[in-house]
Amino acid sequence: DRTVKIAPSILSADFADFGREIQAIEAQGADWVHVDVMDGHFVPNLTFGPPAVKAFRPHVKTVMDVHLMISPVDAYIDAYAEAGADILTAHLEAGPHSHRTLQAIRGAGMKAGLALNPGTPAEAVEHLLDLTDLICVMTVNPGFGGQKFIDMTDKIRKLSAMIGDRPVHIEIDGGVDPSTAPLVVEAGADVLVAGSAVFRGGSVDKAEVYGENIAAI
Ligand code: DX5
Ligand code: ZN
Repeated sequence: DRTVKIAPSILSADFADFGREIQAIEAQGADWVHVDVMDGHFVPNLTFGPPAVKAFRPHVKTVMDVHLMISPVDAYIDAYAEAGADILTAHLEAGPHSHRTLQAIRGAGMKAGLALNPGTPAEAVEHLLDLTDLICVMTVNPGFGGQKFIDMTDKIRKLSAMIGDRPVHIEIDGGVDPSTAPLVVEAGADVLVAGSAVFRGGSVDKAEVYGENIAAI
């Protein structure tokens, strides 16, 4: 299904209120919930691990899309399966054996995603496409929400051509807002992660605010 989906990143949510934040964005039209796991090593920021992701699970009625910004990955795959991830995305740059990692993710019963930092070329995934359900094109250097969009439309076009008829999503992560979303969709993206653009302005009426922001993207 290549209809464009919005996956709000709870990296920009209230960390003391994840359950309510997840419910609010889903009630307002989020298609997936994007969960950013950072280890303070692969990226210079630290968020949460499997026990927290497991605690999010009952609140997520749509799809829990877990983006691992950690290295190494393989030792944690079973823990994220057990935590209830639907999609588990690892970075190509996180280790030398992406092929093995993708097989292990599928073997644990999840959809397998592969993320690419801005400096990594499209061609790097060519021999991995049959093992992959989603390619995540980073349009910021991973680690923080609220950064400026880096134009990767050329990479998205190349990936889209390489993917052809395969059922592989192209997800865009970083700096997606109402001004950048049309560029990446035009280039071939079908899943848009958005953190600051969705959660900006959260308040007691947060559900309504999120709905407006989601609709704007
Ligand atoms: C960045 C994360 C993103 C981030 C996006 O390392 O992977 O998912 O939350 O945030 P915005 O939309 O604010 O750039
Ligand atoms: Zn992310």
